[in-house]
Amino acid sequence: MTTKRATAEVIVMQSADQATDKAAELFKQAISQAVADRRVCNLALAGGTTPHDLYQKLAADVYDCDVPWASVNVFFGDERDVPHDHVDSNYHMAQRAMLDNTPIPPEQVNPMPADAEDLQTAAAEYEQVIRQIVPGDPIPQFDLILLGMGGDGHTASLFPRSDALSESHKLVVTHHVPVLGRNRMTFTYPLINAARHVIFLITGDDKAEAVAAVLGDDKNARKEIPAAHVNPIDGTLTVVLDAAAARKAGLKPAAS
Ligand code: 6PG
Repeated sequence: MTTKRATAEVIVMQSADQATDKAAELFKQAISQAVADRRVCNLALAGGTTPHDLYQKLAADVYDCDVPWASVNVFFGDERDVPHDHVDSNYHMAQRAMLDNTPIPPEQVNPMPADAEDLQTAAAEYEQVIRQIVPGDPIPQFDLILLGMGGDGHTASLFPRSDALSESHKLVVTHHVPVLGRNRMTFTYPLINAARHVIFLITGDDKAEAVAAVLGDDKNARKEIPAAHVNPIDGTLTVVLDAAAARKAGLKPAAS
């Protein structure tokens, strides 16, 4: 089923695997369109566990489809404070699941330095790399940003009640996340909401409550959910769900 909210297209698929297939289809379309229009696609990947299967699917047919992977610049929407070869690193996950198996030149992949000694400087430097590579004034405009969402409604590393939520100038920040007891580096809303296209891929019953809040009309509930404040100013937002994640929002998959 596809319904358009004022700012979001919501697509509900029966299973997590079907939702991942749909996200892969949209991902490839967005890359091809960006390269056709502007000869390059600047994209930011999400971390966590949900995108792992998406990345594997994208890598599996990389030579069977005509996606211009060699014209893609890869960034990360957030990163954990671990080395890039650590099992918890979002870069490490994406590298193993996809990047190592696509013809994206390594120099076009920009891991986020979330384990740097001086995190504030590292965040500012990552922002400068984005400003050098991704066109857009005053804010670089990504062609595609992939996001996930936690059960508490966090997205990227924008966690409920965290200082990063109110950042209105910096495009990349690092902050201590009390609920994790760890530091995270993350895109901020100004950068996310400048994107041409944002895709959420959210599956599983543990996300159903937060999905209902994001898609619902209860302003108070939405206020507390960081993912609810992702609304591309001059872009499109697509929310891809499986039936489990959509259940409490009262949305059902299209009859297959
Ligand atoms: C991260 C992610 C984060 C993720 C959510 C959902 O670094 O963890 O970027 O925002 O999208 O935590 O994670 P799961 O996909 O593992 O449920």
